[in-house]
Amino acid sequence: MEKLDARGAVFTEKAYAKVNLTLEVLGARADGYHDLRMLLQTVSLADDIEIHYTYDGRTRVESNLTYLPSDRRNHAVAAARTFFAHTGLTDPGMIIRLEKRIPVCAGLGGGSSDAAAVFRLLNRNYGYPLSWTDLETISAEVGSDVPFCIRGGTQLVEGRGEKLTKLSPLQDGLFVLCKPPYAVSTASVFQLISGSHLARRPDHTGAVRAIAEGNLSELAKRLYNVMEDFVPVGRHDMALVRGELMDGGALGVAMSGSGPTVIGLFDRKDLALSAQRTLSKSFQDTFLAVPVSGIEL
Ligand code: C5P
Repeated sequence: MEKLDARGAVFTEKAYAKVNLTLEVLGARADGYHDLRMLLQTVSLADDIEIHYTYDGRTRVESNLTYLPSDRRNHAVAAARTFFAHTGLTDPGMIIRLEKRIPVCAGLGGGSSDAAAVFRLLNRNYGYPLSWTDLETISAEVGSDVPFCIRGGTQLVEGRGEKLTKLSPLQDGLFVLCKPPYAVSTASVFQLISGSHLARRPDHTGAVRAIAEGNLSELAKRLYNVMEDFVPVGRHDMALVRGELMDGGALGVAMSGSGPTVIGLFDRKDLALSAQRTLSKSFQDTFLAVPVSGIEL
């Protein structure tokens, strides 16, 4: 379907945040990236994506966060460019409207998820020229976390972020997500961790087993992110958030991605709500979220 007559129509897609249940850095690669192993989970905190076709050949972003780049530096625009480059279709020009709720530079994969939503939306609009696997493959050009975000859910992610193993979904539990007011550069955390001795490594296998068995407390014991000791800013606040979450009844806590967001896993909604209320008095970016299942084939 080369032609898309969608003048005036608005197409929408949800872009969900992800949290790291585990994260391990295995070592530096020749291409400047690092080999990783991590267990990622999609959660219900989400941005809303809208596409308005303009037919002026100019694809750009508009957002409630006015400081976000509107051009290719925004992963959403990079995703559109990558989609048209790989399909050979003509980019008609569009406004990608991002209603951002996922905090940026937070370790929650917001930009990657926006990009993945643009890939899904364009692929749907053009009659599915690419398979899910194709989308996962080409989306790695936009960013390391984008392949996971294409189908989301519960996945073991390896390599640079492109080796995906879909797992049985996490069915229960609630997450409180709390981001202290710092922006962390992912590249800087990788630099600090590179070559360092890691005192402890996550038990990915045990965490996967706990999810399969629906055992939240066994999963909670295994929430662990090796990057937590290497985040250059906000360590005091992150410790404070950890303490509040544990005191508030979280079964386990961990930092997500390269931080600074700290997540707490709860099995009781009343406790999760109360922890969210308490933390939001000190930290504006505090959210309650539940696990979201991935897109099935
Ligand atoms: O791929 P993405 O642009 O999201 O990565 C941001 C930065 O994080 C990269 O420039 C790189 O420094 C670092 N990174 C890495 N190894 C990965 C993913 C990211 O070193 N697997």
